[in-house]
Amino acid sequence: MKIFHDISSFREERKQLLPTQKLGLVPTMGALHAGHASLVKQAVAENEVTAVSIFVNPTQFGPNEDLSKYPRSLEQDCALLESLGVDWVFAPAPREIYPEKESEIIFSLRSMDRKLCGRSRPGHFNGVIQVVSILFNIIQPDRAYFGLKDYQQFQIIRQMVNDLHFPVQAVPCPIIREEDGLALSSRNVYLSSQERIQSLFLIHTLKAIKQKLEDFQTVTDVKDFVHHTLAQYPLVKLDYFELLNDKNLAEVDSLTASSSPRAFIAAFVGKTRLIDNLALY
Ligand code: PAF
Repeated sequence: MKIFHDISSFREERKQLLPTQKLGLVPTMGALHAGHASLVKQAVAENEVTAVSIFVNPTQFGPNEDLSKYPRSLEQDCALLESLGVDWVFAPAPREIYPEKESEIIFSLRSMDRKLCGRSRPGHFNGVIQVVSILFNIIQPDRAYFGLKDYQQFQIIRQMVNDLHFPVQAVPCPIIREEDGLALSSRNVYLSSQERIQSLFLIHTLKAIKQKLEDFQTVTDVKDFVHHTLAQYPLVKLDYFELLNDKNLAEVDSLTASSSPRAFIAAFVGKTRLIDNLALY
């Protein structure tokens, strides 16, 4: 496995690939866990060559977010990636990606960035799109793999790939969970033992909605149920709960299969912000 910290040496290596060799990319911010490992395994199985980028992207963090304390574990991450059969790791410093300063390229995201996480994290998806397009330009993958825990992120990236005609297939990958259902996230390490128990509010609520779906008449009934459930979780502060159409993230006005509702939830458990989502059909 080769590790690159600068763009020019990565590009030199990239040039050696034959046109018949497909390149898979798993973009990450490091602090790798079993969720990332499953993306990497899929990429290794489907491509001749697999690259993983490790870059904690400053432009997707807001001023009051956890950029400086975001977990970083490059050595451990590289050991895991080597054991999974990764060929190339691209782990640049921020100055390599943003030589001037954290440049402000503004993308038009067709309002998809103003709902769900975009509402409480203004500018976040602009930063994600900025770095993903930079990584696509440097790495030039044939396929790029993203986990569906960040469902909104995936839809926005897919839109960007279509709009900008990137010759990349964005591949959606299933959410990987702990045995008790908590979606894997690099932020789970911040949870105290009490918070870890209460973090199950997210998946328990989503699953209960799916199971009881026939009992609800309207979207408002479902939202009332979420607020009612929240009362049993004193360490949890709800950021949002929404029912949106699976494909275009538009609000749904009915709970029927034909409106393809997916439930989206975000909550602070102590100071840690967690997200999750579940298709209701
Ligand atoms: O999902 C993530 O880890 C990040 O948002 C991504 C796609 C690597 C961009 O920094």
